[in-house]
Amino acid sequence: MSKILILNGSPRKKGNTFFLIQELAKTIIQNGHDVEILHLNDYDIKPCQGCFWCYKEFPLKCVQNDVMNGLYPSVLDSDVIVFASPIYWFNYSAQLKLFVDRLVALHVQGGHSLNGYKFASIFVYGDTNAQGSGVHTAIESIDHMIRYFRGENLGVVHGTGGDDLTVPDNPEIMKDLKELAEKICSI
Ligand SMILES: Cc1cc2nc3c(=O)[nH]c(=O)nc-3n(C[C@H](O)[C@H](O)[C@H](O)COP(=O)(O)O)c2cc1C
Repeated sequence: MSKILILNGSPRKKGNTFFLIQELAKTIIQNGHDVEILHLNDYDIKPCQGCFWCYKEFPLKCVQNDVMNGLYPSVLDSDVIVFASPIYWFNYSAQLKLFVDRLVALHVQGGHSLNGYKFASIFVYGDTNAQGSGVHTAIESIDHMIRYFRGENLGVVHGTGGDDLTVPDNPEIMKDLKELAEKICSI
């Protein structure tokens, strides 16, 4: 049994990102795996201060001692980490960026605790054209991070959502999501 951690970067619990998260989680759970969803908007995550306190003795925690110190064990404990976010201003949301920046605290001597981990992403945007939406900036940014972790990218699902809940009627994104779920379940 694997544990899949899904990071929800959307503040809208009735929105498109969360709908896709729930569908993904349903399939993963049906296949006997464990899912934990972190609604990042619900947490008061402070921005990284760049002090590198976490590099001194690599305590795997942050000197700020906010909610993140309680979330790091969930991150370390997972087999797959899924980044899920709406596209805000041509990148993933600030809620997710705050969390990602704070992963700096998981460095260890000569590397990072997430080295070799598996990752996937889900992005939703308002634009009907992926190129115009800015999703490629988000994909590239996450991809850089995965390469930094010398990890494995299991896949990216993205498509048009919008203000209304429209992804359930988008056969392409639902098909891509199903394929990603199957891939995650097969690890
Ligand atoms: C602050 C803000 C910025 C946005 N920026 C973009 C953007 O750069 N490109 C785009 O295609 N859609 C943009 N959108 C639209 C959202 O990505 C879209 O509505 C998405 O479906 C929201 O996801 P959700 O339903 O999970 O909340 C933006 C929306 C907001 C609120």
